Amino acid sequence: MKVSIVGAGYVGLITGVCLADKGHEVICVDKVPERIAMINNKHSPIYEPGLDELLERVIGKGTFVATLDMAWAINVSDITIVAVGTPYREQGIDLSQIEEVSKEIGLILREKESYHVVCIKSTVVPSTTDTYIANIIEKFSEKYVGDFGLCMNPEFLREGNAIEDFMNPDRIVIGANDNKSFSAMKELYGVFKDTPILRTNLRTAEMIKYTTNSLLALLISFSNEIANISEAIGNIDVQEVLTGVCFDKRLNPRINNTLVNPGILAYLAAGCGFGGSCLPKDIKSLMAFSEKTGYVPEIIKATIKINEIQPVKFVQRMEREIGDLSNKKIAVLGLAFKPETDDIRESPSIKIIKRLIEKGADVFACDPVAVENAKRLKSLDVKYSRNYQDALKGADACVLVTKWKEYESIRPDEFKQLMKTPVVFDGRRVYDKALFESSGIRYFGIGLVEERN
Ligand code: UGA
Repeated sequence: MKVSIVGAGYVGLITGVCLADKGHEVICVDKVPERIAMINNKHSPIYEPGLDELLERVIGKGTFVATLDMAWAINVSDITIVAVGTPYREQGIDLSQIEEVSKEIGLILREKESYHVVCIKSTVVPSTTDTYIANIIEKFSEKYVGDFGLCMNPEFLREGNAIEDFMNPDRIVIGANDNKSFSAMKELYGVFKDTPILRTNLRTAEMIKYTTNSLLALLISFSNEIANISEAIGNIDVQEVLTGVCFDKRLNPRINNTLVNPGILAYLAAGCGFGGSCLPKDIKSLMAFSEKTGYVPEIIKATIKINEIQPVKFVQRMEREIGDLSNKKIAVLGLAFKPETDDIRESPSIKIIKRLIEKGADVFACDPVAVENAKRLKSLDVKYSRNYQDALKGADACVLVTKWKEYESIRPDEFKQLMKTPVVFDGRRVYDKALFESSGIRYFGIGLVEERN
């Protein structure tokens, strides 16, 4: 099929190259000329493992091209997927990009004679597609929904794993209020054989997206709450607690005497909190929107609150354990909100760094790929390095925030050789406390404090 994608950002670009690799003809539209030039030169403007290679392949095959010309892209395609940003602002999601694109699509559809499907992939709060977006497109196209198709197809891509997620989807959700538009979307996704397709109405599809991210965020905050309770009581290891919980066969069945260990259990882990461009934004948007409709979502509110206090609490713990932080050299391992990405948006690491600076600490931070992005945060007085050795050199203490593989494998001896005083705060519970302590390191893990009473 011929598909146009509006918005060559993270979701749009991944969707585009993957659909092109699956045999569709894809045209990606964006309004930033530099971005278009870069993409057509086979360079991805975003960091995502495997994306450059895939881009090279689909451009080479001639099944993918990027353009500034939305009218051309829509006129020569059957389906347009909208994948522009919907950032969270004070009062809820900002729909300005959706508004602009919907108007443009409407104007183009006014002139287009053949049937065309518009599919919203951007994350929008439930009821946005069937009211707000439908109204704009109808007004500017002077046509009604039905004359053109309108669908909602949420994305479930994880940064750092997006290509694998797109190519091997666990489900495809298509919100469609009529059979004609649903059939077109079903044909588009027919290339993913054996993947369940769930058909819903437009708002249910929107709600599935928010519910999925709310559940992931909830599991993380829940684990952190249990960690905080465990710390307050003392002599309880939250990691053992959660491992104990995860043996429950309703969460983790045994097949052929082997535990299945579903991926969702990885979210039941205590740490410094969740970040990124999706979980924080989506749950705040759902909360704000729910409150506007008159329902106060208490669990989601608490999920956000726990996530906000988690980095603060960890710095308090550091103060408790090693005293005044002013003029202490603190090494921070990891800037990205999670491994395998250079994304620092809402990263717990940045929150911890800000707090450490407020306390007068000298911060030396490292990350294998996110340093350039962190440097753009001009207000932060931090010495950055790509390698952890530079950050650890001469440090009074170190705090691990992002679970990069290369940090997990740092041996106790290396900490001892590099640091002035080998004190390690493990915000992700990656190190072995007994091993570190027997090697002469003061070790403090999140959700694990010595006996209090
Ligand atoms: C998240 C969802 O996982 C995707 O399904 C969704 O499509 C995406 O948001 C989105 O809305 O676009 P992502 O933001 O890439 O994806 O991040 P995750 O991998 O889910 O990580 C989010 C947070 O959970 C991170 O802070 C991470 O450290 C934490 N996490 C992640 C865990 O605690 N355990 C894990 O196993 C993975």
